[in-house]
Amino acid sequence: MKTRRAIHLRAHHLPWNNAGNLADNDLSADDVVRETGWVFNNETGDELTHQAFVETGDKEVQRYIRLLQLESFPFETSTVLEIGSGIGRMTSSLTNRSKKVIAADVDSAFLERCRQTVARFGRIDRLNTLHVANGKTLALGDDSVDMAFSYITLQHCQPQDALNLVREAIRVTRKGGLVVLNFRTWVRSDVALVPLGITVRRLWKVPVLGKRLARWRWSTRLGWQANRLKPDTVLANVETDLSDIKIFHSIKRDLSVANLRKSAVVTVPTNRINPSHWWLVAQVS
Ligand SMILES: C[S@@+](CC[C@H](N)C(=O)[O-])C[C@H]1O[C@@H](n2cnc3c(N)ncnc32)[C@H](O)[C@@H]1O
Repeated sequence: MKTRRAIHLRAHHLPWNNAGNLADNDLSADDVVRETGWVFNNETGDELTHQAFVETGDKEVQRYIRLLQLESFPFETSTVLEIGSGIGRMTSSLTNRSKKVIAADVDSAFLERCRQTVARFGRIDRLNTLHVANGKTLALGDDSVDMAFSYITLQHCQPQDALNLVREAIRVTRKGGLVVLNFRTWVRSDVALVPLGITVRRLWKVPVLGKRLARWRWSTRLGWQANRLKPDTVLANVETDLSDIKIFHSIKRDLSVANLRKSAVVTVPTNRINPSHWWLVAQVS
């Protein structure tokens, strides 16, 4: 590999492209996880292994299938789109249970590594990859998948890009298929975190210094959450294209839904969901 790839000028893409450039080097899969794995599962250390990294993804896939009441979804006959696959932490598990998986990511080097991860731990014969070069549109036809899934990805997009990806997820999912999308919403600490994040993302654009900063863990973690979206904001855009809408959120907080068709939207307080997160699970109608 070792090719230098063009860095996007959009600040919120910088940490991914920086981590992607590291993953683009001739590192072993274990080294890639030690160097860049923390951007996916927040774990650091010299002892990390590719295998342990994928096991965290497998456990989370199993956990969310249970928490989001997806046990009856026919994965084995379905095509699943994963928006924001990274280097395949969850993708292997998805290929092991689905007919086909399309792994999509803004960083093309991550997709290369994703193929290697799936070749080792999943079913490579069931994997296609899709580069989301502009961070907001999916080069897929209408009705081409049975489920569009995304975890800890939409929070890292500019708000308009995230909302566009939601519309795209619905467009590419067949009628009767499911969208299963994870978002981050407001919490009290955001009073400080949001302005800090804006400042850090501006610093990432400063020549030389910015490139270094966007590689440091503290700065990345402060700046990479580029939006907070409430259920109402997301539903206002797409509610009429969906039915059987469920909003899963942490049992530790209320999450109001004041959209027009409130009766069609069920909120489900759920154990073991991060209080700053929520999930939209709905059928495309
Ligand atoms: C925190 S990681 C999560 C990866 C994976 N879902 C997991 O849990 O391991 C976020 C991923 O989203 C990707 N990403 C960020 N913005 C994106 C965008 N606009 N479109 C597609 N992927 C994006 C990043 O490159 C990164 O791989």
